[in-house]
Amino acid sequence: MCGIIGYLGYREAYPILINGLKKLEYRGYDSSGIAIFYKNGYSLCKTKGRVYELERKIYYDKVKISGTTGIGHTRWATHGVPNDINAHPHVSNSNDLIMIHNGIIENYHAIKIILSKNGFTFKSKTDTEVLINFIEFLRKENKFSLEEAVRISLNEIVGAYSIAVVDKYYPDKIIIAKLGSPLALGINEKEFFIASDPIPFVDYTNNALYLKDGEMAILKKGKELDLRKIVDNHKLHPIIKKLKINLKQIEKGKYKYFMLKEIHEQPKTILDTLRGRLLISECGMIYIDGIESNKDIFINAKCITIVACGTSWHASLIGEYLLEEFARIPVEVEYASEFRYRNPIIGKKNVIIVISQSGETADTLSALKLAKKKGAFVFGICNVVGSSIARIVDAGAYTHAGPEIGVASTKSFTAQITVLVLLALKIGKYRSTINDYRYKCLCQELRSIPEKIDHVLKTDNSIREISKIYHNVNNFLYLGRGINFPVALEGALKLKEISYIHAEGYPAAEMKHGPIALIDENMPVVIIAIKKGFYDKIVGNIQEIKARKGKVIAIVNEGDIQVSMLADHVIKIPYLSEELSPLVTVIPLQLLAYQIACIRGENVDQPRNLAKSVTVE
Ligand code: M6R
Repeated sequence: MCGIIGYLGYREAYPILINGLKKLEYRGYDSSGIAIFYKNGYSLCKTKGRVYELERKIYYDKVKISGTTGIGHTRWATHGVPNDINAHPHVSNSNDLIMIHNGIIENYHAIKIILSKNGFTFKSKTDTEVLINFIEFLRKENKFSLEEAVRISLNEIVGAYSIAVVDKYYPDKIIIAKLGSPLALGINEKEFFIASDPIPFVDYTNNALYLKDGEMAILKKGKELDLRKIVDNHKLHPIIKKLKINLKQIEKGKYKYFMLKEIHEQPKTILDTLRGRLLISECGMIYIDGIESNKDIFINAKCITIVACGTSWHASLIGEYLLEEFARIPVEVEYASEFRYRNPIIGKKNVIIVISQSGETADTLSALKLAKKKGAFVFGICNVVGSSIARIVDAGAYTHAGPEIGVASTKSFTAQITVLVLLALKIGKYRSTINDYRYKCLCQELRSIPEKIDHVLKTDNSIREISKIYHNVNNFLYLGRGINFPVALEGALKLKEISYIHAEGYPAAEMKHGPIALIDENMPVVIIAIKKGFYDKIVGNIQEIKARKGKVIAIVNEGDIQVSMLADHVIKIPYLSEELSPLVTVIPLQLLAYQIACIRGENVDQPRNLAKSVTVE
């Protein structure tokens, strides 16, 4: 996790760093810091807390902020608690070298012992302080140049990193390197921008280079970029890409929080996901490049394993249902963190699908590498264009949901489901496991989903009223059956993440095997009770809850009578087929979590302890 930023050029670095850090806070926000360089010196300021607290400290401490070279960091703690000392940048014992780092150095402890034996001392508990001192040690022992010392130290460490290093005596030079953690470089004629993603520098340039794993670059003011391989110092030819980022997508606009904006964007993002793929919905023509060009692999697949984390894992469970239903291929869904640490059996005709909004989730990335190593064909579903996962899969489909800034995933979830629906229908069509009529009906219905979501978004006021009643409870239960069971899981995750209320998602029928013991007059139960999908069984479950005085908040179809009479509160959604229903049933659950968190006064976009992309194990 963590966000890193840097600037080297002719402009004042400070505003670029501070504004950039604010845009990178989604990557971590427990502490932050900057270093600005001038001739033979630098000023350093770091603090526990968010970037606005750093700004305040810089102002009150009158920190010198003038300079045209600088680096900055926003942290999500891995080694050492969030405090001023553990915040980045970190400085070597001589005070000469300054570093920012995103990632984890796994063998830092062994290196620390060697350094301690050689007289080095450490102020912080971080692995980063060990690395910068290791570089200093190698440089002094061997009279290496800084670039050589950085390169050789990186060949000795185990772990993941994107780093930027500056020598205070050479403020016209920054060395950057990457392995496992993302690093983008913005390039103009006389300046370089360094960042964990390109958003902080799109205001200044659309020329970008994404460093690949195992690459480092020596950036010098007024000089051309010098790109090298870390392993052998081999010089590389930089491939510079033109960025296409619409800045409006990364502004809150009229919304109080990005999460609310992103919830409301879903009718549009689903259309964007469908664009160019659902070609003629009336006769059902689906085109997905990555499927088309690997048609035989999907037709002959004996089994599909979907690997993901968090919300993407919930979308995967929905994918399991869809693929088994339409394509009649057995599907397994795995947590990436579990998959990567066992010895999974991957047969020749086993297709692996990895799903990730960020495309940077460390566990998913490692699972993907493992699957590839075992010879599997890997298909990726990612949102962030050019992300690590997107770059190394064999084929894939972007979700095209646009930047998702709120830490709690919303629009990326429905965009992932949309891709999975298309995928399952397309493979089903190839394999003739879905009849034409059903296929066409679903294609047509898919087109109507954005409108249905729009309709549900208008129920926000009544959801707020429900939220006012329950915002103070300690526990929530979420129930769903079939394809709406993963939606229940997702609703519970949303509530936990942003309101810190404990919530459990369960298959409704499982309630009587345990969770029913929790039900009393203080327990709100959110239950998805739409007409298509075990309605009668769900009615029975609701009766069981009411018999124990539980409070029922039911998601029902418009025109519903039976559940509406039993439930304490109903949220109405339009009628739709069961297979597509998660695209709509999740909307009220997102709004409920959002409203409850707002009433409780929580920071919805940046919940405690979390970060948008989890780039550590
Ligand atoms: O970027 P990814 O989809 O790989 O991220 C996976 C999870 O970290 C993510 O979905 C997380 O659970 C979100 N905070 C959920 O809202």
